[in-house]
Amino acid sequence: MALVDSQPTESDLRSVSQGFEGSHPEEVLRWTFATFGDSVALASSFGGASGAVLLDIAAKINPSVKVFYLDTDFLFPETHALIQKTVERYGITPVAYRPELTPEEQAALHGQALWTQDPDRCCELRKVEPNAHALAGLDAWITGIRRDQGPTRSEVGIVEWDHKFKLVKVNPVAHWSKQQLWSYIFTNKVPYNALLDQGYQSIGCTNCTRPTGAGEDERAGRWSGRDKVECGLHA
Ligand code: ADX
Repeated sequence: MALVDSQPTESDLRSVSQGFEGSHPEEVLRWTFATFGDSVALASSFGGASGAVLLDIAAKINPSVKVFYLDTDFLFPETHALIQKTVERYGITPVAYRPELTPEEQAALHGQALWTQDPDRCCELRKVEPNAHALAGLDAWITGIRRDQGPTRSEVGIVEWDHKFKLVKVNPVAHWSKQQLWSYIFTNKVPYNALLDQGYQSIGCTNCTRPTGAGEDERAGRWSGRDKVECGLHA
């Protein structure tokens, strides 16, 4: 599946995406690296199961894959531990992108614990703006979003145009279930975030993430008790 030129139309991307329905994420990633070469990077939160699987597949087929993470200054110690494990296991050093403001500067400018007063603004400053820096100059990025993560993600394509950040967005596990991810993780002994064994299903910042109980949705522990379900990277 080739794109007709370097500036694909949304319809080109839709047909590429449809062609990948039912494909293994490895096939999607092989196409991604062949199409975008050096101009693509994998965004991993080092939190959930999707990112762990993607990193394992990507590292096996492209050992020089660019990987980045958004270090909000509020990541869990378990998340930092997994980043370290990634360096040791795959020989890949993920690049950290950080907010312009330290937590102290943010508190001085926007008030203490902005995440309680205005969580959207906090995510904007600590995730969305750094993400725009991480994507500058790239033609595509790879993310771990999945359709079964909730209503805001139920329609995502495997390959799509990202209107917010203005580049191609590849979601190689969009069509995979949680069960498929865990089966891949156990079969391939993929390192994952230790919090996933402690009742957490989706992991972001310490201030805005809690473990989930039996029967709760995968993302119920994010911004719990608020209407907010997305940080702004994807919707
Ligand atoms: S989100 O609301 O925090 O974006 P989620 O944790 O489900 O949701 O992450 C979805 C995808 O967004 C991840 O698979 C990854 O591609 C990207 N992402 C989320 N947080 C980060 C982060 N801190 N650094 C890099 N990528 C991230």
